Amino acid sequence: MTQSLTIRRPDDWHLHLRDGAMLAAVLPESARHFARAIIMPNLVPPVVTGQDAAAYRARIMAALPEGADFTPLMTLYLTEETDAREVAAAHASGLITAVKLYPAGATTNSASGVRDFNAARPVLETMAEIGLPLCVHGEVTDPEIDIFDREAVFIDRVLDPLRRAVPGLRVVMEHVTTKDAVAYVTSEPRDLAATITTHHLVINRNHILVGGIKPHYYCLPVAKREEHRLALRAAATSGDAMFFLGTDSAPHTDPLKESACGCAGCFTAPNTLSILAHVFEQEGALDRLEGFTSLNGPAFYRLPANEARITLTKGDRVTYPSKIETGDGPVTVFDPGFALHWRVS
Ligand code: DOR
Ligand code: ZN
Repeated sequence: MTQSLTIRRPDDWHLHLRDGAMLAAVLPESARHFARAIIMPNLVPPVVTGQDAAAYRARIMAALPEGADFTPLMTLYLTEETDAREVAAAHASGLITAVKLYPAGATTNSASGVRDFNAARPVLETMAEIGLPLCVHGEVTDPEIDIFDREAVFIDRVLDPLRRAVPGLRVVMEHVTTKDAVAYVTSEPRDLAATITTHHLVINRNHILVGGIKPHYYCLPVAKREEHRLALRAAATSGDAMFFLGTDSAPHTDPLKESACGCAGCFTAPNTLSILAHVFEQEGALDRLEGFTSLNGPAFYRLPANEARITLTKGDRVTYPSKIETGDGPVTVFDPGFALHWRVS
């Protein structure tokens, strides 16, 4: 029996497209199925000014395949020097949809991020006034804190105090990986949402470390224990509108991943929707997939849901290349470790 599911076209509320040859190679993988994506600003150098964001947006539009229907939603990278008036102007002109907060040193290209959260207060207060969401990489960088605890500690030490200090600030906790983050989001009825990645619904830390180290499963925040993965699956499939898809698809070439100091990031753009349909079916929640991929995100960002539809069909095994070629070298596609049968038709 063929099973099929028609849903509004999805959006990706957290995506790394990079630049140059990498951008050209990975953009079609997202533009094929997603109507919009929040574009991460952690380029080298980062996207910090309105001018940077406008120029990056133009490079993305120029790299889009003919006929693609895809809108990049731009973000600015928050630094201690970010000017509140510039942020407000970039928002008012429609150029940016969010601002991204990286604690300095937390992840790939985060060196220009925030050390002193007080220095960012004026920008955050302006954002609260104008309703501009803050996307947060929620991990402390204190070397004393175990990497598996960094998200939970961030909530107590940084995120909760910051939200109390700037009431009304609309926050998206990006790529949550713990039951602690799920509980925090669930306990706060207003102004706080979370994105969940495809890969964190599939892997736990055993996948990275048991039977040999698997660099293509290494990302940040790092995947945690099984109980956390189960909490993420429950949140994603719960129908709670405060949880939505942000793939954090983050391409790095194989030499950079398969290295003595490998980069963090899973490249999930090519097979994300097949994997999500599989996961939601396993959880008996296919009827909630559309909320997670296509409705909850726009509702939080106060944007209309997409009018176009896609249809997912379940059939023979879906095949996809294990790597894509880019001008910078090969990039390995995330392997969920199980056969996929749902395809976008
Ligand atoms: O795994 C990750 N990769 N996590 C991040 O926060 C950044 C991203 C990247 O840019 O590669
Ligand atoms: Zn990311």
